[in-house]
Amino acid sequence: MATKINVSKGAGLFRSWDLRPVNRPLIINKTKIMALTEELKREDSLASLRNAVFRLERNLQSVKEDKAGVLNIDSNGDTITISQKFIFEELNQIAESKTLERAKYYVERLEKALGEVRTSRINDINLNRWKEYDDIRTDSLWIIDKRDNTGVHTAGYWGNFIPQIPNQMLKRYTKKGEWVLDPFVGCGTTLIESQRLGRNGIGVELQESSAQKARELIAYEPNKYGVIAEVVTGDSQGIDYRAALKKHNQTSVQLLIMHPPYFDIIKFSNDRRDLSNASSVDEFLEMMSRVVDNASAILDKGRYCVLVIGDKYSRGEWIPLGFLTMDVILQQGFILKSIIVKNFEETTGKRNQKELWRYRALVGGFYIFKHEYIFVFKKK
Ligand SMILES: C[S@@+](CC[C@H](N)C(=O)[O-])C[C@H]1O[C@@H](n2cnc3c(N)ncnc32)[C@H](O)[C@@H]1O
Repeated sequence: MATKINVSKGAGLFRSWDLRPVNRPLIINKTKIMALTEELKREDSLASLRNAVFRLERNLQSVKEDKAGVLNIDSNGDTITISQKFIFEELNQIAESKTLERAKYYVERLEKALGEVRTSRINDINLNRWKEYDDIRTDSLWIIDKRDNTGVHTAGYWGNFIPQIPNQMLKRYTKKGEWVLDPFVGCGTTLIESQRLGRNGIGVELQESSAQKARELIAYEPNKYGVIAEVVTGDSQGIDYRAALKKHNQTSVQLLIMHPPYFDIIKFSNDRRDLSNASSVDEFLEMMSRVVDNASAILDKGRYCVLVIGDKYSRGEWIPLGFLTMDVILQQGFILKSIIVKNFEETTGKRNQKELWRYRALVGGFYIFKHEYIFVFKKK
């Protein structure tokens, strides 16, 4: 879809052109673009500054697309990569300014965005170019209708989460080269995603067959950043994480992603140590408490812990498993940062029985589950 940019009746000038699809990367020669923004700052009237902006926009417009699908404006020398949408929006804002002073303020902001990288302690998001990150969610309601099934990601493992969850969390709460721990790794969704994003990962799985499946999938996933993704077979309640990390000369992790069984909704094995075999909700919470206690010991202070979980019904009663588990984590030295509600994918079984579930809901006075939670905590 092409984006139409109109600038600006208020400026006394009117342009209209079609941009190529949004968020294409432009590779720009850094020295040249910085010289052009310096020139913008020297303009002494709003009209001449606008004209200079338009010339710059035309210059960027005429950039040819090369074979790799990347637009570039002379990639010799020191270059920066910037999204086309971002730079055009910034230039438009400059052109639409009502005063010269305001326009120059926006030029300076653009200069910073082009010249300086400003990140926080916990991720690689360049805050000087935060508008470029259209892919990062910041709302607490997630409606995701399509599972990412690219590469080795598979919906084949019963009870795995959609890759978009670890993808968002890793981009938001880790930097490249840092370490994530997933104590319930299943078929390895978190580690496939961490490998893709250039983060190292350790995953623990009780069932050897699932751990092996995860290892095979990870081995098929390209590893362009050369990171580590190790799956250890074991019980997350007592496993020695320090020993697992020591092998890689590490002592801690920077993100914890937990996607435990939702108590007994899916039975993953007959193993007594499996959280899906807890004899009661209380026992499930005790087991979770041990998992959190063990894992949080190796999570750096000030870093994040993510819990993905849903609620359940039992004998006509809604069991708020999500909030009960949230409480367990809050008692272990964490503060709550967010509760995200995410729509629930309909399983084929549920889809086939849709009418029956609706009838049951009407008779039983309940609502059919359509959501689960992503709780985000920060270690104190
Ligand atoms: C909801 S699934 C996680 C799925 C995973 N997020 C994925 O995308 O593949 C929960 C997993 O926890 C494992 N599990 C249950 N109890 C465990 C324990 N005590 N230690 C380690 N893994 C356990 C189960 O075998 C199951 O694979």
